[in-house]
Amino acid sequence: MTRKNDTWSPATLAAQALGRVDETTGALIPPLHTATTYLRDPDNEYRKGWSYSRENNPSYETAETLLTELEGGAATLLFASGLAAATAIIMALRPGDHILASNVMYWSLRKWLKGPATDWGLVVEIVDMTDLAAVERALKPGKTKLLWAETPSNPLWRVTDIAAVAKLAHAAGAKLAVDSTCATPVLSQPLKHGADLVMHSATKYLNGHSDVIAGTVTTAAKDEFWERINAIRTQSGGVIGPFEAWLLQRGMRTLFLRVREASSSALRIAQHFQRHPKLAEVLYPGLPDHPDHAIARRQMTGGFGGMLSIHLAGDEVASQQAAIACAAKVQLWKRATSLGGVESLIEHRASIEGPGSPVPPGLLRLSVGIESCDDLIADLEQALAGT
Ligand SMILES: Cc1ncc(COP(=O)(O)O)c(C=O)c1O
Repeated sequence: MTRKNDTWSPATLAAQALGRVDETTGALIPPLHTATTYLRDPDNEYRKGWSYSRENNPSYETAETLLTELEGGAATLLFASGLAAATAIIMALRPGDHILASNVMYWSLRKWLKGPATDWGLVVEIVDMTDLAAVERALKPGKTKLLWAETPSNPLWRVTDIAAVAKLAHAAGAKLAVDSTCATPVLSQPLKHGADLVMHSATKYLNGHSDVIAGTVTTAAKDEFWERINAIRTQSGGVIGPFEAWLLQRGMRTLFLRVREASSSALRIAQHFQRHPKLAEVLYPGLPDHPDHAIARRQMTGGFGGMLSIHLAGDEVASQQAAIACAAKVQLWKRATSLGGVESLIEHRASIEGPGSPVPPGLLRLSVGIESCDDLIADLEQALAGT
């Protein structure tokens, strides 16, 4: 494979998947390796570096190297899903270790932390990662080993000050891991702000076409903790299939175009509905009255992401009824879970998250795709008019 040019910008690296050309065939698209097993050398070594595909597969290489470049890290691992990636980081801790996690974060991961991770012996404490004084109070120097932040966070879109939280974490001897699924490396590079690990549900924006389940972890340093994460992938077998890894490198070629378009439409939609009579609130970090707008401006470049939420007006019962009625009336937006695909999605999150969720019953989460923004606004207008 020929190598990338060091002066290329991230958008160029993504569009050309590092600009590699297959030396054997001249192919501009990397080959797909479906082999599960590889030939040993006569002296019993594996000098080509591949032995068995639960450990590694050459089809991972393009997406992993590209993400390492885009995040400014030292190495990346692909996983079978976003949750396989996130839980591999957390399983690299040891029983008894203390972990601080955001109060607003992807619901299933929080459930896993409070359930299996706690049963396994981790001491999990939930904290508001946007409140630096609260984070500092909750840290137990020597005992806290990991801080888990998601930014912007699902589905209230709070923004964590990565540099400030990383400083607090490091002073206490802990690492900071950031779920950057909704920011993507197009808008934010957590490692450059001091995070130690960045994780993505690549199911979302990185792949971008709602047809692959995948996860990634990129590390700032190839240290002993990274080796543990790598061993967990091999030993617990949370590996992605080669075809999914290949699809992921294809999806990432249009990452910059998709994320820029979704971000610019999301901002327009947020501004358009900001003072809508049927809404109590529009939650989007790109709006100047969002509580974390100043941090988002500092930390995110080129946009504030394609995710926003609308909070229907009325008390808990009335706002929930209105939210469900609005989701029932949209025609262009698709009523479905997930996010980050080319098609726009709308979802009543409280129904998914259940009791104990911080999400208000009148909230609808919107994942803005790349359709005409005028069409998206018109469809939401007619749906709200019918509530
Ligand atoms: C922010 C975030 N992190 C992690 C995940 C989990 O990813 P996956 O569904 O790929 O396991 C999701 C999935 O919705 C998510 O939205």
